[in-house]
Amino acid sequence: MKNTKLTTAPYKGTRDTYPKDMMIRNYIFDTWSRVAKRFGYEEYDTPLIESAQLYRAKSGEELSNQLYNFTDKGGREISLRPEMTPSLARMVAAKKNELQLPLRWFNIGKFYRYEKPQRGRRREFFQLNIDILGISTIDAELEIIQYVMEVMSEFNAPKDTFELRINNRYLLDYLFTEILELSEELVPQLARAIDNFSKMELSDFKEYLIEIGLDNEQVEKVLDFLSWDLSMLETLKGKSDGADQLLELFEKAKNLDITNIVFSPSIMRGLDYYTGTVIEMFDIGGDKNPRAMFGGGRYDDLLAIFGEEKLPAFGLGWGDIIMTDYLSTYNLLPDTKSNTKVYVTLMNESLLSESAKLTQELRKSDINTLMCLEPIKLNKQLQQSNRKGIRWVIFIGEDEIKQNKVQLKNMNSGESFLITVSESIQKIKEI
Ligand code: HAM
Repeated sequence: MKNTKLTTAPYKGTRDTYPKDMMIRNYIFDTWSRVAKRFGYEEYDTPLIESAQLYRAKSGEELSNQLYNFTDKGGREISLRPEMTPSLARMVAAKKNELQLPLRWFNIGKFYRYEKPQRGRRREFFQLNIDILGISTIDAELEIIQYVMEVMSEFNAPKDTFELRINNRYLLDYLFTEILELSEELVPQLARAIDNFSKMELSDFKEYLIEIGLDNEQVEKVLDFLSWDLSMLETLKGKSDGADQLLELFEKAKNLDITNIVFSPSIMRGLDYYTGTVIEMFDIGGDKNPRAMFGGGRYDDLLAIFGEEKLPAFGLGWGDIIMTDYLSTYNLLPDTKSNTKVYVTLMNESLLSESAKLTQELRKSDINTLMCLEPIKLNKQLQQSNRKGIRWVIFIGEDEIKQNKVQLKNMNSGESFLITVSESIQKIKEI
């Protein structure tokens, strides 16, 4: 057989995560999960593979086309999960009578979509999903919006670099049926057009609306609707549930001093299961990250696909890739220094067991310690330690052993101490 060399490149649309990137990822995940716990949310998980039917039911055309699906050996059509919400709904439907409502749940997991890889979008990515189930009032939305604000504050995000854009599917229904009196088949087409409004030139958008069958008057009404602000919603009070819910949300948000949120009539969301509020967050500090940082909404009817009664639910999915891009754009990424606190040198081969014993003792005291395993030149050892940004170095040679001591050096300050192991442990733990 011909000897072919395999490529070292990972599969298209995926990336290897080297330790420095892993530190960034962990920083983002720790922040998401620490704040979720602060809000009383509990962690859960679901299988990475699901029946493809789960997504065909209500996730919408776009997502159905992006499935990583295959037929298993038993002839079942399976898909890697492209999103969490249908699995979450399945889990809750399965134990609806046992679970204590309301549920406040979160998960950070991997997802797969057969997408065209581009900035902010890959075929493999992580999402934080944070959802609240069992609360029908707008207070559910407010709680999760507060969560988002707290996370952004923990990331030290400048207030003028992000914006939460909020709309309501019932308001869009009002546009389709009451304002435009649209025929049923045109609704999904117009919905898709509105979803793409911000990415299209105005002339192309208008042309597209005519193409799908809207008349000039309807086109003008759509454009007028897309320019609405909150004051226009006041005129629909009592006429549209969507307007009422939005007005209540913005009123309550004002009382809670929540900033950075706007009513945005073009937010549509591609997924079919959304019922009321729909929400997305954008980077508004420049044009480097044009895609939504997260997306979410209300999906009060989703449990119906399992034959269950409705259950009010609201939540969002927040991707790691766009979040990393955003943090990097505004220089908000953390230092990627090593987690290792101490580097134990190896002066020569005969001292291997002395160095190893010392290392063992440090680790027993819960100090992250790395030991040099080869008797390489001391300056090479120091170089290794320096590159990793390790703060402490311990030298243990013949002289130190005779005195029952070690040489502890603080690489930041340059201070050196000839002290016992237990004194070293104390010193390392002080800082
Ligand atoms: P989604 O808008 O499809 O919503 O995705 C939410 C977020 O996941 C996006 O805003 C983005 O940050 C990230 N994301 C999606 N696709 C990719 C990709 N190919 N590469 C990188 N990041 C991506 C949902 O998935 C809903 N299930 C969210 C939800 C939770 N709704 C209610 N609860």
